[in-house]
Amino acid sequence: MSDNPYQNDHGNRDASITNAHGAGTMQPAHNKSGPTTKVDGGPFLIGDTMTGGYGKGPDILHDCTIAVDKGEIAVIVGPNGAGKSTAMKAVFGMLDVRSGAVRLDGEDITQLTPQDRVIKGMGFVPQTSNIFTSMTVEENLEMGAFIRTDDFSDTMEQVYELFPILREKRNQPAGELSGGQRQQVAVGRALMTKPKVLMLDEPTAGVSPIVMDELFDRVIEVARTGLPILMVEQNAKQALEIADKGYVLVQGRNAYTGTGQELLADPEVRKSFLGG
Ligand SMILES: Nc1ncnc2c1ncn2[C@@H]1O[C@H](COP(=O)(O)OP(=O)(O)O)[C@@H](O)[C@H]1O
Ligand SMILES: [Mg+2]
Repeated sequence: MSDNPYQNDHGNRDASITNAHGAGTMQPAHNKSGPTTKVDGGPFLIGDTMTGGYGKGPDILHDCTIAVDKGEIAVIVGPNGAGKSTAMKAVFGMLDVRSGAVRLDGEDITQLTPQDRVIKGMGFVPQTSNIFTSMTVEENLEMGAFIRTDDFSDTMEQVYELFPILREKRNQPAGELSGGQRQQVAVGRALMTKPKVLMLDEPTAGVSPIVMDELFDRVIEVARTGLPILMVEQNAKQALEIADKGYVLVQGRNAYTGTGQELLADPEVRKSFLGG
């Protein structure tokens, strides 16, 4: 694999599945989401020095920062329980941060609900319960389009082109699909809103190495359409290979940050997190 996934010549160059320029059909929410401040510069999406935990419980995140820029794949790795999922949920607005901020395209969205963040252009695939198992594949994709009032058949067609197996199985209950196919449903569902940024929490959890490679190829393909991807991965080595930027989290803190290649080459990171 080349250092830069965008240099590959295969894959989908169709940018229409994304909404990179905000030119899509979603309502621009700038006028109705209360006071927000817009500052230019900085990464496209950033959870900046976030501290917080669940409810009244102890802090899980301690000045934790994760971010992704336009045209990038950013990968978060770290041991079980490090707070990777918590950091993703914090960026998506599923827990209150006691300090720190979340900014999307320069706009402070720290106070927005998850649904308002979807309207702003965030697509999130959580680690668990990320599909409706009793609904068909196609119904899952339709549910993904819940914020849209326009005709989303083009987007569904693009999802079926990206994941052809989903077209074949479109009338089957999603719960009957294999693990890898379910993850495709979950990613496809998130793409149905035409997000400006895609967040994936362990998209390859529980799948075979072959299916993992296949899913990573699809992730690269999606990224090459211009959609920035912020992704948590257990398969640290493979994930850092496709990462423009990598974060190693330990006990809710940033332990190491660098390009994917820098982290792969770092002896400390190799020894502690990549099995030598
Ligand atoms: N819903 C929750 N309520 C309370 N504590 C939680 C919840 N989810 C996770 N935690 C705690 O937060 C810490 C980090 O968990 P998590 O973010 O899931 O780690 P990771 O994704 O890196 O494996 C763990 O100590 C876990 O027990
Ligand atoms: Mg997790």
